[in-house]
Amino acid sequence: MKVLVTGGAGYIGSITVERLIKAGEEVVVFDNLFQGHEDAVHPEAVFIQGDLADKGAIEAAIAEHRPDGIMHFASYTLVGESMERPFLYLRDNITNGLNLLESAAKHNVKRFILSSTANLFDDPENMPITETERIVPGSPYGESKNIMERYLYWMDRLYGMRYACLRYFNACGATEERGEDHDPETHLIPLVLEVALGQREKIAIFGDDYDTPDGSCVRDYIHVIDLAEAHILAMRALGDGPSRKYNLGNGRGYSVKEVIQTARDVTGHPIPAEITARRPGDPDILIASSDTIRRELGWQPQYADLRTIIEMAWNWHVSHPNGYTK
Ligand code: UFG
Repeated sequence: MKVLVTGGAGYIGSITVERLIKAGEEVVVFDNLFQGHEDAVHPEAVFIQGDLADKGAIEAAIAEHRPDGIMHFASYTLVGESMERPFLYLRDNITNGLNLLESAAKHNVKRFILSSTANLFDDPENMPITETERIVPGSPYGESKNIMERYLYWMDRLYGMRYACLRYFNACGATEERGEDHDPETHLIPLVLEVALGQREKIAIFGDDYDTPDGSCVRDYIHVIDLAEAHILAMRALGDGPSRKYNLGNGRGYSVKEVIQTARDVTGHPIPAEITARRPGDPDILIASSDTIRRELGWQPQYADLRTIIEMAWNWHVSHPNGYTK
């Protein structure tokens, strides 16, 4: 199978490319390197530096390489930033996504995987969160993914493009060669590890008055390799099955305080922490039910244990203390 991966130089995209190549698939990466890193692109992938805002560029890439499927990771991804810069998310994530969909439809691409998000579920009625939960986007970011999910419904109906929407909970972890390197970094685990590396003085715990056992927010942390494998399973399943939507997590929540304590155990560093104000938009608890993808595709996370996830992230941070060099 030949797979075009937008955002294949980014964190989750580059690790999915690594796993695709390991699985023997052919990969074309399309990335503008705005957030991604050229060093993160697997050397066996064809790399096109291009921007989805440039409709001609993505159309040319699809026309030239004629992929069997597309995995669409490229987007703005920060919940908090989207509350402050809604148009970046409500305009760019959507118009860029539409440029991609239009070219894909025109060139008869029949399989499409969308990176979607737990931010669709801002006010869940049931925990863990299943795919039947009502959708209440928690931010313009979540709304942009919700709109893309809706557009895919029309791609399927009008063009027979089969899609999978994968709603990630909290992606984390690393492989030996690829890990998390955002600028600026906002995610809990890499920030905690930067403290352990001596690059930051302390970690802020955003609120300890949530309705959770220890007062800090509870999230479902999922290893990026397990996410990547879910993409590969879903892409294969779309060959002879219907479109689908899956929530992706481990079905187990950890609090911010538990994450920090686990990182102390792994790194041997005291990792000073300080309680600060809540970060706007953070729900108390988000835990996924991934029963549907386990049942339908036999997905089985290999790195579900938080300590293992943090150990693997730590190994990458120790070997790449300044992230990717380019
Ligand atoms: N947190 C802190 N201190 C920090 C950073 C984070 O206490 O310095 C807390 C947050 O408040 C939150 C938890 O750690 O409770 C995890 O925060 P992250 O920023 O690591 O991740 P988010 O849960 O905010 O966001 C992630 C993805 C989004 C996705 C969302 C879905 O990055 O793309 O999960 O729930 F939309």
